[in-house]
Amino acid sequence: MPDSLPALRRIRADVQSMHAYAVQDATGLLKLDAMENPHGLAPVLQAELGQRLGALALNRYPGARGDDLKRALAAYAQMPAGFSLMLGNGSDELISLVTMACDLPGASILAPVPGFVMYAISAQLQGLKFVGVPLTADFELDGPAMLAAIAAEKPAIVYLAYPNNPTANLWDDATIEQIVEAQGAQGGLVIIDEAYQPFAARSYIDRVARHGHVLLMRTLSKFGLAGVRLGYLMGPQALIGEIDKVRPPYNISVLNCECALFALEHADVFADQAADLRTQREHLVAGLAKLPGLRQWPSEANMVLVRVPDATKTFEGMKARGVLVKNVSKMHPLLANCLRLTVGTADDNARMLAALESSL
Ligand SMILES: Cc1ncc(COP(=O)(O)O)c(C=O)c1O
Repeated sequence: MPDSLPALRRIRADVQSMHAYAVQDATGLLKLDAMENPHGLAPVLQAELGQRLGALALNRYPGARGDDLKRALAAYAQMPAGFSLMLGNGSDELISLVTMACDLPGASILAPVPGFVMYAISAQLQGLKFVGVPLTADFELDGPAMLAAIAAEKPAIVYLAYPNNPTANLWDDATIEQIVEAQGAQGGLVIIDEAYQPFAARSYIDRVARHGHVLLMRTLSKFGLAGVRLGYLMGPQALIGEIDKVRPPYNISVLNCECALFALEHADVFADQAADLRTQREHLVAGLAKLPGLRQWPSEANMVLVRVPDATKTFEGMKARGVLVKNVSKMHPLLANCLRLTVGTADDNARMLAALESSL
């Protein structure tokens, strides 16, 4: 630590030894690394949205418009009666807020791994223990291992990403219910994270009200608004009411809020985009199946996980050919030599397949 900066000593040692969340530089590359929707807004909608954003009172703190957005999201998601909804600056913020709200001495967070990294990062930052329970070699939930870990750790929260990132699959329904029951029996919460819901055949929304300890988290990021930053968490009123107290008062800017309302008014446009991406995913999967030496896993999201003979070589080869994907091979031993491909437009996917084939 440089003596010229003694104030660095005031920053937690564990924070100083962390790596910042890595966002890859995509300048000049076809960006297929972060499950973004490749479709932008049509010019006519851009103009309409621009007018609305321009007319906002930027001099005022966000106000009651947030309640309009909550009502619109609840209707869009068909939120069950007796539930409430809170807003986050992306699901990332909601994950941090729930972790903070549950930060009792000795509390832990449990999730299957490999999974979404923010569950572990938010636990670490908040000083909670993170318990990662490995998936099976085929990326299914290891039911007995999950139940044993819940019994041993009695975690405050169990996260189930449904579909999971980066494996892109939905979990077995009976195994989910066993986990939900076990977590409820020991007095913990379950958060079903449906970030990829627009691309999945099933949702937990029709089962969530059966339980008093299950929260459902969604985001508009994969829906098509990754740049807007808007996540939402739904659950029984009594629970959401407490967690919402941790939220900074103005976490959703008037711009985020208005963009999200605008998008929900045009939900049919985004539904068509999601439908297109589901179709393109099937074409991509069929193209990948023709590549020798490559293994892929079934996807219910806008990504496909593949295993190649040498992930570093293929990743670098694709990058040299102008296509950026995510090399997840070092994230977890189960992901050895795996790359995560984001589903793009038909043209994007054709370029990605060609780059992949030449880089194997
Ligand atoms: C499973 C899962 N949950 C949540 C998020 C975060 O979403 P947001 O953009 O709303 O912060 C992601 C982002 O990749 C994700 O994969």
